[in-house]
Amino acid sequence: MKYVVTGGAGFIGSHIVGALVKHGQEVVVIDDFSTGKQENLNDLESKIKIVEGSIENLDLLQSLFKGVDFVLHQAALPSVPRSIKNPLRSNNVNITGTLNVLLAARDNGVKRLVYASSSSVYGNQEDHQYKVEDMNPCPLSPYALTKFAAEKYCQFFYEFYGLETVILRYFNVFGPRQDPNSEYSAVIPKFINAALQGEEVTVFGDGSQSRDFTYVENNVQANLLACKAPGEKVAGKVFNVACGATASLNELIRVIEKISGFSLKRQFFPPRVGDVKFSLADIRRAQENLGYEVGINFEEGLKRTVAWYKELLR
Ligand code: UD1
Repeated sequence: MKYVVTGGAGFIGSHIVGALVKHGQEVVVIDDFSTGKQENLNDLESKIKIVEGSIENLDLLQSLFKGVDFVLHQAALPSVPRSIKNPLRSNNVNITGTLNVLLAARDNGVKRLVYASSSSVYGNQEDHQYKVEDMNPCPLSPYALTKFAAEKYCQFFYEFYGLETVILRYFNVFGPRQDPNSEYSAVIPKFINAALQGEEVTVFGDGSQSRDFTYVENNVQANLLACKAPGEKVAGKVFNVACGATASLNELIRVIEKISGFSLKRQFFPPRVGDVKFSLADIRRAQENLGYEVGINFEEGLKRTVAWYKELLR
């Protein structure tokens, strides 16, 4: 089978590419290298085709999607704060870019498109601890709104044109290759890096906010399953991809300290604008319809991730 992975040089995309190559699939990566890195694909370069380009370029996508069976659409501009600083850029990449990917998939007869959405779509849900797919979305930031709008486009393309789309709502993904050095980096790579280098971390709020931190291999598994599951069970549908467990930032810091053997100095700042307070996924729909299971839990994932950053720093 022939796969296109958009954002295939990025943190999550490159892990998916690795798994596809291992399974003997033909893979084309499209990445504009704005946040993706060539080095993420270093071991795979000879086995795949890498195209430097943006999902904002519809003509390029139309030519690349010829003869393609599956599109795993990972390309996006992540980060809630980035989207607040520059909402138009997030809108262009995450919404218009996704619309381009859908159009090219539709026009080229792609069998199925899997879309990487985000738990941010839920926002804060009063009185609910577990986030369930049929809750009303409540985006709190431009980023969350772009992810929700793109989900709707995916559903429209199934409804109007019969293009099979599967929407995976990722919950705070972490693991090797996640960039710790950008101002928009996610909390886990930032905190691990700081622990290993004896630097201070910034905690926005009192650290009681919680996340369903998900090790990246679980997301890889969900993508592969989403390609295989019967269309009547998954097409046009949304699935949480997470561990179904939650940790506060204060707990995260304790576990990083335990695993790394270093203590973390911290400074507290006011909560970030657009920040979600609690995040915990109900993963039963993915378990029942995709056959998804949590392969690597939070603590085991953190052990592997800390080990990877330690190796990198050596
Ligand atoms: C959100 C989404 C996630 C998505 C990601 C993309 C939710 C619940 N999650 O992640 O699904 O993939 O956007 O960017 O909406 N923090 C600190 N100090 C730091 C950095 C972060 O205290 O130096 C805090 C943040 O304020 C937040 C938490 O750590 O409360 C997690 O932040 P981050 O890793 O950036 O991810 P989310 O914004 O939760």
